[in-house]
Amino acid sequence: MAAALTVDSRFRPEYHFTAARNWLNDPNGLLYSNGVYHLFYQHNPHGVDWGNMSWGHATSADLVHWDEQPVAIMCDAQEAIFSGSAVVDVHNTSGFGTGGTAPLVAIYTSAYSAGSPLAGRQAQSLAYSTDDGATWRKYAGNPVLDRASAEFRDPKVFWYDGGVESYWVMVAVEAVDREVLLYKSHDLKTWDYLSTFGPANATGGVWECPDLFELPVDGEPGTSKWMLVVNLNPGGIAGGSGGQYFLGEFDGVRFRSESTVTEGMQEDGSRMGEYGWLDWGRDYYAAVSFSNAPDGRRLMIGWMNNWQYGALTPTGGWRGAMTLVREVTLIRQSGQVVLKQQPVDPFAVTGDVVCSLPLRQLSGCFPIPLDGPAEVLRIDAEFVPGTADEVGLVLREGTGERTVLAYNVAQGVLRLDRAASGETRFHEDFASVERVPVELENGRLRLQVFLDRCSVEVFAQDGLATITDQIFPSETSTSLSAFANGEGATLVGLAVVR
Ligand code: FRU
Repeated sequence: MAAALTVDSRFRPEYHFTAARNWLNDPNGLLYSNGVYHLFYQHNPHGVDWGNMSWGHATSADLVHWDEQPVAIMCDAQEAIFSGSAVVDVHNTSGFGTGGTAPLVAIYTSAYSAGSPLAGRQAQSLAYSTDDGATWRKYAGNPVLDRASAEFRDPKVFWYDGGVESYWVMVAVEAVDREVLLYKSHDLKTWDYLSTFGPANATGGVWECPDLFELPVDGEPGTSKWMLVVNLNPGGIAGGSGGQYFLGEFDGVRFRSESTVTEGMQEDGSRMGEYGWLDWGRDYYAAVSFSNAPDGRRLMIGWMNNWQYGALTPTGGWRGAMTLVREVTLIRQSGQVVLKQQPVDPFAVTGDVVCSLPLRQLSGCFPIPLDGPAEVLRIDAEFVPGTADEVGLVLREGTGERTVLAYNVAQGVLRLDRAASGETRFHEDFASVERVPVELENGRLRLQVFLDRCSVEVFAQDGLATITDQIFPSETSTSLSAFANGEGATLVGLAVVR
């Protein structure tokens, strides 16, 4: 008989990154160098709760399989190492490089502890590696940017190629003021103020973990827009932590938003649906992008959790997982520029199609015939709802448990209902229903769903709408079905890949 699953292994994801032990939150220092992707992350090396914040480290060749490395930057009596970014300093502007190799430079927030003369402040600091990320040393001149603020954090640095003048740009937040501050530098050590953006659009919580990058529209150079990402907590579209974005222009000094709906701190919640959101679920937070990714790809990853209940998830000796990596692009649709997000598919290379259903009329519930549990897999489904009221999938179903992904035709809304998904009682906000507006395309709804042991990631209409949620079902809740409420729906096709 198989050994009983321990509390540690029961919810341990198969293809999402978790630290072998202990706490994890935001992705940090995302970068590609010499064939290796580096994922650093907020980590408590000593416990399963938030604290002792340090940068954990993992590496990957394919953005799917991650190998945990030793802690990269450790907290000490002076400071906790809060979120930030990392760059490949190709031209050795910092002077940290030796022997002609490009140093990797991490720009992180020093959250000064009681042991420091700067206690209570948050300022930006550097650490560098001259062995391609294996070991890190803090810069002796830290901090490099100190505004004597208690809430100035999460620096994201990128190289701005301005033609006439090129330099490093830092975006960081004054979190409580809901402001993104921009600075420039030629050597990563001295920073000059450029401009401030915000408050704007969603301001129902502090602003954290910003990012700024340029994206071509429809892949055509010369048609690009800049995207400013601002994570906020609470005040996200689904409740609690969430990520919003603005599209606009950046001229090397100032970001001008074309998607500002409301300005200032006047958010009353009524216009939330008009803002740009990276994800409409509850578990996609602190998402930022990789530096130096090959082929100009813009790849993002988020912490698959929410500060509402992140400290209480029932996972044993580890806590916190990353989402799948997503490639973000902009496309033009009906005259509008819209965001499209596509996952780096963990099943692309090794997955087997274990079920493939041809077109059929759908009415009521149709159990998907599978050999084995519907637990860790990808589902590709296409529906024509026709005259039915709702179509969708029932995931991880068992006695008294189910997670329902349903499209309501009259509302034009896709919802993920995890109210009866399994263990939900560890926090009153967990049993939730997430909703995202989705338009049918030629009457069709396409869904791609990634199930892992404790998560559901939904990409609808090829990534025009996404919902990411954790779930904690019983081991026995492993059935999968498709359904239609009302007559006239067609299941055009459904494939399960495992
Ligand atoms: C976001 C955040 C950041 C901060 C880090 C601390 O989740 O609050 O603003 O740098 O977590 O762990």
